[in-house]
Amino acid sequence: MTTTTRGYEPSDNLVSLQSHILAEETKYPSATGEFSWIISAISLAGKAIANKVRHARLQDVLGEAGAENVQGEKQQRLDIISNSILMRCLGSRASVAVIASEEDEQPTIIRRGHEGGKYCVLFDPLDGSSNLDVGVGVGTIFSILRNDPSIHEAEQTVCQRGATQVAAGYILYGSSTLFVVTTGHGVDMFVLDHSVGSFLLVARGLKMPRAGKTYSVNEAYSAQFPDGYRKFLAYAHDNGYSSRYIGSMVADVHRTLLNGGVFLYPPTKKNPEGKLRLLYEANPMAMIVEQAGGIAYSGDVRTLEIQPAKLHQRVPVLLGSADEVERVRSFLK
Ligand code: AHG
Ligand code: MN
Ligand code: MN
Repeated sequence: MTTTTRGYEPSDNLVSLQSHILAEETKYPSATGEFSWIISAISLAGKAIANKVRHARLQDVLGEAGAENVQGEKQQRLDIISNSILMRCLGSRASVAVIASEEDEQPTIIRRGHEGGKYCVLFDPLDGSSNLDVGVGVGTIFSILRNDPSIHEAEQTVCQRGATQVAAGYILYGSSTLFVVTTGHGVDMFVLDHSVGSFLLVARGLKMPRAGKTYSVNEAYSAQFPDGYRKFLAYAHDNGYSSRYIGSMVADVHRTLLNGGVFLYPPTKKNPEGKLRLLYEANPMAMIVEQAGGIAYSGDVRTLEIQPAKLHQRVPVLLGSADEVERVRSFLK
């Protein structure tokens, strides 16, 4: 096995996501295989959504659905289609207790703890969907929590600190379809090989570069950012940084994961708490980033330590290479 300059090892064998998760599972005697079924369901949904995204313009499923979601944001037709695909793939898996989605006001109880519901699955079914009509990368973000059968109320069940996540990851529908996942033991990356219809392992134990002179933020809002963020941007302008902002969190975070740098969504007038949602955007991405050696903050607290109060709670996001995040934080103090 050779180690490339990026610090992760390309797999020499042909390993599918399915077989990788099953192999990982054998390392944990208590594992029952139920968890693997959930990853398998998300993988199935990802393939189906990838197909929809690739044919969106041909199948005329682009554009707005004409409704707003609970976030008060215009839903894209593919937001709703992707949401339904994930529900249909996950609902049939015996170990799923609760499903929570960006697109639904309340979580959906599939089965109670005493009926075998061991896990809660939260997701942003289609992240960056406003980019769909212009062919830019979009994604699905997911977070898996343990179900606490003693908690009866669904929203309270899923309001767990990000540090308690059992697994997290995303699927990027970009120039290729990527599946990036962590179960708390490092970050692994898979690429969908359409010829075999499987996600194949291409990188095991991804490590984010410690530094990177790239910042990713919607600079149009910078006049509204708290002062410290503006001071960091002034520093970056004077010190040879480049700016990359796609407007899809999954694509911006994936680039940051591979190339290093820092991704920020600070508080703005319109979103004084930040725009991104804690439970199914910030937390899963924070777990991925920290498992790859980076760090993630929301204001002056580590994102994964925040005790959520509401399902659709928003937080500021500052994540990326450890050195770069600390540099931004030095301006925020
Ligand atoms: P979603 O499409 O799921 O609502 O998420 C969009 C988010 C995120 O993907 C991205 O980082 C951010 O919105 C971009 O927001 P701005 O357009 O305000 O920069
Ligand atoms: Mn999103
Ligand atoms: Mn979304």
